[in-house]
Amino acid sequence: MNDPESEVERRRTAGRRRDDVPLASAAFAEAFVALTDGIILTDPDGRIVSANPAAFRILGEDALVGQVFEELLLVTGATKVQDTEGHLVRRAWFPREERMGVLEIVTTALPASRALHTVRDVTSQAELLRLKEEFLMEVAHELRTPIAALVASVDLVVEDAMTMPREQLTVLAGTLRRSGLRLEHLVENLLNAGSIEAGTFQVRAAPASLRHSLSEALAFVQPMLESKGQELATDLPPDADRVMADERRTTQVFANLISNASKYAPEGTKVTIRAQTADGFVRVTVADEGPGIPLDEQNRLFQRFFRSRTVREQAGGLGLGLSICRAIVHAQGGNIAIESGPGHGTSVHFTVPKARQLAEEAGSS
Ligand SMILES: Nc1ncnc2c1ncn2[C@@H]1O[C@H](COP(=O)(O)OP(=O)(O)OP(=O)(O)O)[C@@H](O)[C@H]1O
Ligand SMILES: [Mg+2]
Repeated sequence: MNDPESEVERRRTAGRRRDDVPLASAAFAEAFVALTDGIILTDPDGRIVSANPAAFRILGEDALVGQVFEELLLVTGATKVQDTEGHLVRRAWFPREERMGVLEIVTTALPASRALHTVRDVTSQAELLRLKEEFLMEVAHELRTPIAALVASVDLVVEDAMTMPREQLTVLAGTLRRSGLRLEHLVENLLNAGSIEAGTFQVRAAPASLRHSLSEALAFVQPMLESKGQELATDLPPDADRVMADERRTTQVFANLISNASKYAPEGTKVTIRAQTADGFVRVTVADEGPGIPLDEQNRLFQRFFRSRTVREQAGGLGLGLSICRAIVHAQGGNIAIESGPGHGTSVHFTVPKARQLAEEAGSS
């Protein structure tokens, strides 16, 4: 026989010795008061017979005993999430200080038609889930543009490759390459952001050339600059060829910074890259003639996912680029900073240790 009440009773008493009871009930009473989850007991009429302090706090009620528990939930409306093994799980929305919060209520039947309700504030988990979903949507959105361009170009090639003039084929191949590079850059940023967060991000500094990293990055950013009629001016001193850096990662720093400069500045503007040597470092500056960044937002730019309110509508992005640049530059022993005044363009400066300096230090120690 599997009477649900005796089953509940069996589960409740299983593993408990008779001698444990007095001690256990004192401990339970303490736990009842100390628990951060709300605990509510209701009688067969559904009226609250006891509630711990957390229940009052979470539900924001001054008086609970005597109230019908289900009526409390009616105010905000609870939806069933799960109903298994005698536990009914529901979610309810309730007003908190400035916005709505989310409660999870687990109701368990007790003998004699009583019930135990656990009430937990899951607002922050729900918020995290919402952010995750929002992020997935944004990633999908960012992927869609280059994929659509890729598919459209391939379609044209498939239809007319035999008869298509050579120039047109060259243009299509260019589009294909740009879309591919954009996808590669996006995926690289996503992977890097993930491994930075997981603590597995690796930067291997070795004697390297900034000029080389920059020219690799140009393969990706040049088409972006061209499509907006933007001019790129570079001025790197010979020292830029002898730094201690991870060349591939530094390519990514350039790609992110130049793509920001191009993306956020208007058409026909100029992007300047220059470098100078100071105190054993090469200091690189990527400057644009864009709208600049509001002062009150400047200290948040290196945070993951942060995007300025001024550009969100106008240009796509995931808010990862600068956080990745910072991780790379710091891992190489350098620093990165932004200098920007609204209406005066933006300059991003980053430093990379000179290779010779390191060699000298090693030799003198
Ligand atoms: N050159 C710039 N001019 C104006 N605003 C900038 C510039 N560079 C960065 N920003 C601001 O800083 C924010 C963060 O930049 P970041 O490169 O980290 O992310 P993103 O460009 O939005 O997205 P992603 O680089 O991941 O595609 C941008 O959203 C933008 O608001
Ligand atoms: Mg960016």
